[in-house]
Amino acid sequence: MILLEAKNIAQIWKNETKQELDSLKISGLREPHLAIIQVGDNPASSIYVKHKMKACAEVGIKTTNYNFSNISEPALIQLVESINYDPLVDGILVQLPLPAPILKRNIIKYINPLKDVDGFHPSNIGALATGHPTFIPATPLGVQFLLKKYNIDIQQKNVVVIGRSNIVGRPLFYLFSNPPNNNTVTLCHRYTKNLPEIASKADILMVAIGKPNFVTQDFVKEGAVVVDVGINRLQIADNQSKIVGDVDFEHVKSKCSAITPVPGGVGLMTVSALLSNTLLAFKRIHGI
Ligand code: GUN
Repeated sequence: MILLEAKNIAQIWKNETKQELDSLKISGLREPHLAIIQVGDNPASSIYVKHKMKACAEVGIKTTNYNFSNISEPALIQLVESINYDPLVDGILVQLPLPAPILKRNIIKYINPLKDVDGFHPSNIGALATGHPTFIPATPLGVQFLLKKYNIDIQQKNVVVIGRSNIVGRPLFYLFSNPPNNNTVTLCHRYTKNLPEIASKADILMVAIGKPNFVTQDFVKEGAVVVDVGINRLQIADNQSKIVGDVDFEHVKSKCSAITPVPGGVGLMTVSALLSNTLLAFKRIHGI
């Protein structure tokens, strides 16, 4: 069984982005600039935003962090539009989830698709769906990068994705079913009947549902590759918790040919993917 650890690979990807940015800077271009908007005080979001800003600083991407405890939907749209027109900002990221009553789709549709480094704007999702991706959302892009670096064959396989979120499951479906991957992808969700039966047909099983240890041995075919996107905090004693994935790792690992650990797996790839997308936005805006 191969443990698909991401630490070194995420670092290699970061280094590649930094090298490319260094050479662009030598050629006289300014540094790329990413605007990160956070609304509310979701503790997990605050940690993610901190990680994103630190990683940007490491590779030479400038960040501006807009942090609101509370803001109206119209005011947030106005902010997004002002950044859209700022020629000194290349990327815009609105950290999700957004607190009620703000609806994420109402905000995302106002992000300039050319600056949408998350790849969540309907036109970028549409481009991915139709096989001509512009920005690929960070988690699916990170999954693809990780599997490729471990030389896992990701073409013409039976892939089952559990979870149909717009952030992970749905873009995974598009990315892995379209050329050049050409997998046969089944997208499962909470209303799917006979889930273990369908999952256990998968050569590659991907899970992104946010339910600790949901995927048990009976979901997994002997020799399958298992990609666990879940990051869940599980209470194990009164004042003790640990991070676990959506897959019951201890019971599943013996059946897999390869499996991502949690923590230390897919989660580490997403920040590197964001850096790569920000570099891409910068290059496109500068016609490179
Ligand atoms: N919340 C969880 N994942 C993501 C992500 O990839 N991008 C943004 N903006 N918010 C998230």
